[in-house]
Amino acid sequence: FAFTPDNAAWAEGQISKYPEGRQASAIIPLLWRAQEQEGWLSRPAIEGVADMLGMPYIRALEVATFYFMFQLQPVGSVANIQICGTLSCMLCGSEDLISVCKKKIAPKPHQLSADGKFSWEEVECLGACANAPMAQIGKDYYEDMTAEGFEKLLDDMAAGKVPTPGSQSGRFASEPAGGRT
Ligand code: FES
Repeated sequence: FAFTPDNAAWAEGQISKYPEGRQASAIIPLLWRAQEQEGWLSRPAIEGVADMLGMPYIRALEVATFYFMFQLQPVGSVANIQICGTLSCMLCGSEDLISVCKKKIAPKPHQLSADGKFSWEEVECLGACANAPMAQIGKDYYEDMTAEGFEKLLDDMAAGKVPTPGSQSGRFASEPAGGRT
C-alpha cells in the first residue's frame, strides 16, 4: 500500500500537527484517507498507515476494528448501505429495510451484490432516531424510509442517479409522521 502523492503530502501535514512522539494521534484521519483512496482498509493499507505513524500494526488494527465507519472488506463500487438496526429504527421498520438488502444486494452483510455495485451491513444508532428508520449511504443520511422507497432508491443508484438525502417523506424531525398540523 502507498498513498498517492497528493494523499501522502496531506498525510504528512496531518502528522506534523502533533508533537514529536505523538504521531499516532493522526491515526483516524490517515485511516479515513486510506479508505477513501482504496474503498476499504486492507491489511497492507492498515500496515502502511501504522508504519507512517511509527506504531505497531496491532494498535492501528484496534482502531480500525473499533469504528464501523471503517470497512475491513471490499464494499460495493456504488455504495455500502449502512442500515441502523437500533431500537427506534427497529421499531419503525429497519427489519423491512434489511429484508430489501437481503433480496436486492446479498443474503448476508458484508457480501457484494452479484454486479459488485452494492454491499450492506447493519449498524448501531446513527443519531437520527427521530426520523427512523434510516440508513447511511456514503456520507449522507436517508431517513423516514419505507421498504418500497428504499427499493426505488437502490434502483436509482444502480442506474447512476444520486437520490436526494434527508427525510424521504419530507417531514422535519420534530414533526409527527403525518406532517405539520
Ligand atoms: Fe436508528 Fe438512532 S435508533 S438512528
